[in-house]
Amino acid sequence: MEHTIRFFDTTLRDGEQSPGCSMDLSEKLEVARQLERLKVDVIEAGFAISSPGDFESVSRIAREIKDCTVASLARTNEKDIDAAYDAVKHAASPLIHTFISTSPVHMQYVMKMTPEQVLEKTAAMVKYAAKKCPAVEFSAQDATRSDWDFLVKVFNAAISNGATVINVPDTVGYTTQEEMAQLIRYLRAHVNDIDKAAISVHCHNDLGMAVANSLAAVGAGATQVECTINGIGERAGNAALEELAMALRTRKDYFKVSSRIDTTQIYRASKLIYSIIGVQAPLNKAVVGASAFAHESGIHQHGVLSERTTYEIMSPESIGLPKNKLVLGKHSGRHAFVDRITSLGYTLTEAEINKYFEEFKKLADKKKTVSDDDIEALITSELAAR
Ligand code: KIV
Ligand code: ZN
Repeated sequence: MEHTIRFFDTTLRDGEQSPGCSMDLSEKLEVARQLERLKVDVIEAGFAISSPGDFESVSRIAREIKDCTVASLARTNEKDIDAAYDAVKHAASPLIHTFISTSPVHMQYVMKMTPEQVLEKTAAMVKYAAKKCPAVEFSAQDATRSDWDFLVKVFNAAISNGATVINVPDTVGYTTQEEMAQLIRYLRAHVNDIDKAAISVHCHNDLGMAVANSLAAVGAGATQVECTINGIGERAGNAALEELAMALRTRKDYFKVSSRIDTTQIYRASKLIYSIIGVQAPLNKAVVGASAFAHESGIHQHGVLSERTTYEIMSPESIGLPKNKLVLGKHSGRHAFVDRITSLGYTLTEAEINKYFEEFKKLADKKKTVSDDDIEALITSELAAR
């Protein structure tokens, strides 16, 4: 049966936390408004206890955004949870997101706690959060390097004390697709009352597998994916929202799930984040890179001009781009050249086309790409010389 995948966007928390990606209040509000247009289910607006500025931005976003749940991160202690709740309490749909580490290496060196203490803390702090707020997400940090039976105990404690979402973070981007799928199946089979909570995944991209691992989790029954616009985030980043949304949409036949995301807002969201952090998208970035809908080789251009789906599995319009781009360069063929001069307004004879095409090829050998201005210059200089 087809089910819905919730998109939990953490651009303003995990994304903003990465070097070079910090944002001021007005930028955060602008991003939150765009996330609302994009129709993410949850906006993680920040980590309220971390600074007065973060508290202020979480609380402004909570007051303004009406169509998404607004979350704040909190460690499993009362002060963090109090601050998180105070920041989100005016939201139309508030959520406290609390987390603790569960892997042996994190429990020993980050938490300096025994597994029994982690279990007790989870139960007590989820209960504390659930008394304040109807929606509580619990994350087992470094879940993918944790003992699976210990994870089951921790998630049992979280759900029985009121967690409405349990999150499985691949905190250091370590897991593989098959391992992630097996872990989700294991949790679904062994955690008590698992149907009372949504199962979320939060994948980092250290080995370039964040999106693939998230999709593997969806295939195994996860019902929420955590992600950021353009995949920004700690170290190599988080799973990229635009890639997840377009993969689920383009391969709906395979995943058999739907989401609320309005994909036509993807391009605008991506541009906004790149402009705020002052970075350009890598040319070949999936979905939003400048070359993602560009075709240069003659064979591909001819194919796309005859039937777009020959070399495009998604339409540019589906992400909010007006149209694809035929880039003229040395690999381009006559079809694309004729298409371009026609769209520039020239009606030429066959003999003229042949002549200009030859000159265009000579020019293309010297330049990376041939612009519309180059083509106009080529044609008008000839016409003027007549
Ligand atoms: O990567 C991680 O484990 C996190 C948690 C706080 C969910 O960001
Ligand atoms: Zn993270």
